Amino acid sequence: MTAIIELEQIRKTYRSGSIEFEALCGIDTTIQSGEYVAVVGPSGSGKSTLMNIVGCLDNPTEGHYRLAGEDVSMMTEVELAEVRNRRIGFVFQQFNLLASHSAWRNVELPLIYAGVHRTERRERAVAALERVGLGDRVDNRPGELSGGQQQRVAVARALVTEPAMILADEPTGNLDSKSTADVLGLLDELHGAGRTIVLITHELEVAARAGRNLVIHDGQIVSDQPTARAGAIA
Ligand SMILES: Nc1ncnc2c1ncn2[C@@H]1O[C@H](COP(=O)(O)OP(=O)(O)OP(=O)(O)O)[C@@H](O)[C@H]1O
Ligand SMILES: [Mg+2]
Repeated sequence: MTAIIELEQIRKTYRSGSIEFEALCGIDTTIQSGEYVAVVGPSGSGKSTLMNIVGCLDNPTEGHYRLAGEDVSMMTEVELAEVRNRRIGFVFQQFNLLASHSAWRNVELPLIYAGVHRTERRERAVAALERVGLGDRVDNRPGELSGGQQQRVAVARALVTEPAMILADEPTGNLDSKSTADVLGLLDELHGAGRTIVLITHELEVAARAGRNLVIHDGQIVSDQPTARAGAIA
């Protein structure tokens, strides 16, 4: 097995004026390539802060983060953006789609940043939308789609660059049970195809879909256990 995420004594301190708050207080963990891990914990425990660091959206205040063997802890914003585009697909609770763009235009965005040619972008965006069951909705704007369909567009956007890792922060937080099942089914498929999945959730049923649960309280890992599903999905 190869480690894709190696976190060593990660700390994150937020400063507002003279007030400091330590949101992550020394996180140590390793995630292997191809694992499906859910990060669980109460509101305010540091899940999104950790996701932002793991997703190269923010630097830790202290500690080391190696992503696929590369130390990204102290990279500049420009360097982080490049690593992000190359290695990671994101899915957020609020979908984060551009309202004025059609589904396929939203999905092609990461390919524009990656410098892929226009014709290939359209082909790959449409193929990604077909993969999430939205082949008949490529020209619709987000406002013309249901919440579940919008999140599937976001999943298509996350997978269009074929990233090694998908990071999802409460991807089912705004969805009804049917759409939740659809999106979790897609994540299962992506995991089955060899992707590493890191899913943040406060719902225990959602966490149970992963092979391993990391529980965070007050910026620290308090439990790190395989789930009942671990053997079945390994
Ligand atoms: N930019 C910031 N400045 C100051 N404090 C922050 C900032 N962002 C987060 N925090 C604090 O850090 C702690 C962890 O926040 P974080 O967003 O990581 O929690 P979370 O586990 O994702 O919570 P939720 O389940 O509600 O999304 C919280 O106490 C929060 O108030
Ligand atoms: Mg959060």
